Amino acid sequence: MSQRIANGFLGDNYPRNMWWVAARADEITTTPMARWILEMPVVLYRTEDGKPVALDDRCPHRWAPLSEGRVDGDQIVCPYHGMRFGPDGRCALVPTQTKVPPDAHITGYPLRESGAFVWIWMGDPDEIDNNEPPVDLGYTANPDWSVVLGYYDVACNWVLIRENVLDLTHIPHLHAKTFRQNDWDTIPKVAIDGDVITYRQDFDPAPLSPLFCHAMGFDEDQPVARSQIGTMPSLAVSFSDWNVTDPDPDPGARSEFLMRGCHIVTPGLRGRTHYYWGAAFDIADVPADAIETSRRNVTEAFDEDKHLLERMQAQLSQDPRQDQSTEVGLAADGAGLRVRQVLHRKLEAESRTL
Ligand code: FES
Ligand SMILES: [Fe+2]
Repeated sequence: MSQRIANGFLGDNYPRNMWWVAARADEITTTPMARWILEMPVVLYRTEDGKPVALDDRCPHRWAPLSEGRVDGDQIVCPYHGMRFGPDGRCALVPTQTKVPPDAHITGYPLRESGAFVWIWMGDPDEIDNNEPPVDLGYTANPDWSVVLGYYDVACNWVLIRENVLDLTHIPHLHAKTFRQNDWDTIPKVAIDGDVITYRQDFDPAPLSPLFCHAMGFDEDQPVARSQIGTMPSLAVSFSDWNVTDPDPDPGARSEFLMRGCHIVTPGLRGRTHYYWGAAFDIADVPADAIETSRRNVTEAFDEDKHLLERMQAQLSQDPRQDQSTEVGLAADGAGLRVRQVLHRKLEAESRTL
């Protein structure tokens, strides 16, 4: 069935009134860092007592990027004429005059840390969801897990990545030589509850992908049973859980393992997306060489996604037929279509449409 579903791939099709991930926690230090988030320049830093701060990365005087400056105590110092701003964005000092102009302040954004990540709220301050950010990422900093984290700056709209990671039926095709998990040839069961999307698919014993088998202690040709369960608790993050069962464990040995894939997307500049990925094994102290093998293999596979998604975006951006465009829907698109449903609902709540 062909259908036209507004996707806004060329515009600012992201809700603002929600928590997005600003950075990995270890990226934010007492050296200021510049990051474009939701098409705005943001400077991130830590005060000397470790509190993360996010401010508009634009000095109100001559618009110098504060990220080019330095941190002193809990203040950031503009590199140009030395104005100082506190974590609330208020100017604390103008070096050449005693009086601070009353409008010399910049916007500050609330942050929350969870595990290895820091969330940011850039929407309407009156709408802020003051509960903890919607997704607990504490496991990414839990020593009972062995975690591999990676990051890409991808030149495509964030929804293209969100749809990609929720529809793994592309694995036997795009990743035939990397994932080598070529049994994704039926339709996953998909469900939605509020804004939370889930999919599930169970597989007969087959060799586990070389992206993950080494860290779980399996040989590349050793068959294991799998349940693949995906969850998107927020448009900002989704998980893909590889629940693996060894059908023939050694006596007394553990037979069940989990690899939790994590896919975090944050719109950056128009047409660009910060993509943070994680592969976390529910095993403490996976040997370093197995972790490195996983990192190398995942990166090789995700490079394939990045390449294709960037080609898709470039073509979408240049193709003159976009207004008349339709997409052919497939039965396996269930999770991806629900992403757009959730997105449309959230935009409508902000009185916006695509
Ligand atoms: S531009 Fe920042 S103090 Fe002048
Ligand atoms: Fe992929």
